[in-house]
Amino acid sequence: MMQRRDFFRSTAGIGLTSLALEAVEGCSALRKEDWPSPDDPRYWRRIREQFSIPTGEAYFNVGTLGPRPRRVTDAVVDHMREIEKTIARYDYRPEHPEYIAGYRKQEELRAKVASLINVSGRELALLQNATMGSNFIANGLDLQPDDEVLLTDQEHQGNRGGWELREKRGGIRVRKLPIGTPPSDPDAVLRVFREAMGPRTKVIDVPHITSKLGIVMPVGPICEMARAHDVFSVIDGAQAVGQLHVDVKAIGCDAYVTSPHKWLLAPVGTGVLFVAEHRLKDVWATLASGNWNNYEPADGAFRLMQFGTANLSLLAGFDAALEFHKRIGPERIERRIAELANRLREGLKTIDRARIYSATHPAMTCGIVTWGIEGIGGPALMDELWTRKKIRVRSQDDKMVRQSVHFYNSPDEIDATLEVARALGRG
Ligand SMILES: Cc1ncc(COP(=O)(O)O)c(C=O)c1O
Repeated sequence: MMQRRDFFRSTAGIGLTSLALEAVEGCSALRKEDWPSPDDPRYWRRIREQFSIPTGEAYFNVGTLGPRPRRVTDAVVDHMREIEKTIARYDYRPEHPEYIAGYRKQEELRAKVASLINVSGRELALLQNATMGSNFIANGLDLQPDDEVLLTDQEHQGNRGGWELREKRGGIRVRKLPIGTPPSDPDAVLRVFREAMGPRTKVIDVPHITSKLGIVMPVGPICEMARAHDVFSVIDGAQAVGQLHVDVKAIGCDAYVTSPHKWLLAPVGTGVLFVAEHRLKDVWATLASGNWNNYEPADGAFRLMQFGTANLSLLAGFDAALEFHKRIGPERIERRIAELANRLREGLKTIDRARIYSATHPAMTCGIVTWGIEGIGGPALMDELWTRKKIRVRSQDDKMVRQSVHFYNSPDEIDATLEVARALGRG
């Protein structure tokens, strides 16, 4: 059984693995300490101490960008320093540890990511963000003029831009289906898609969790419907992986994209694209380098990660972030987020002028709570939270803020939010 003091001991790595590991383990204070049990509130305080955000500042904008535990940043920086020191020894032979990303297969890290989301490493391409993955699908599929792609009317720009570009260049039709702001229940969303499907529908691409309101979509049933009509299904999981315990195989989609630099707390500039084994042949490479035409079954989606020289050190940090996430445990993280977000939702419901704009159906809620106070603009509310309590949320438009609740947040930070909301809500 894992000793608690081994909490952050990493086991896999990237090229210069041992160096990244030294960075992770180099914090001797941590190594010697015993960790409290996860049921002990001190456990979560200790978790919070792993981040560089100063005490007294509360960060609730992981929906835009995750903060990194210090050891993740250390893994990146130490890896970069080591490369700078030893670059003259780098002879580029295959047996030498690699110094750049963008050329080799990264099989070890792909397998680690794969085990987190229950797919095979062959089905994954490591990219730089979700936008890249979405674009690779939008550009990579063979579609005919008038073929139809169904999206929601609540896509993030990174997930709709590729389709819009392709529509403008000639050919496909993109339909953005209104799903409700928010939808009343998952069946209402399913009905919208069922009614919109027709003989020309070739692709359905929806978010796992919408960006602005944090609506958890019924992705499993949507993909089942797509499968029944031989429609290619794409799920934009930028807001899901790291927040929910995501099982991509169970969802049953053909492609899934995510940005680990959000909820998984990985270095900025990391992305993942999954393409199901049986669909790999249907996706052309968009960025082509030496392996664009490599259809070897064992290499799988390697063909889709041909972006040229890139920063390998980010992958050392990605590895450390995965380790951090796994040591806490995806289920425990999901439970903690639900507890904190419920506390926020329940508190807001008791304030007269507070409005929750996120979905309230229990199957559609998550750590993203988008809310407002009647009569106060979104940017003004964002500023009030910062000025009064050093709480960072993100304003979404003229009336709301998006509060992304993660495991490192605390009940006290939620209560401080409610205190501000109460003061403004009765004014
Ligand atoms: C649902 C969704 N999809 C895609 C993206 C784009 O992510 P990235 O900029 O990391 O590519 C975001 C970013 O906020 C998002 O919320």
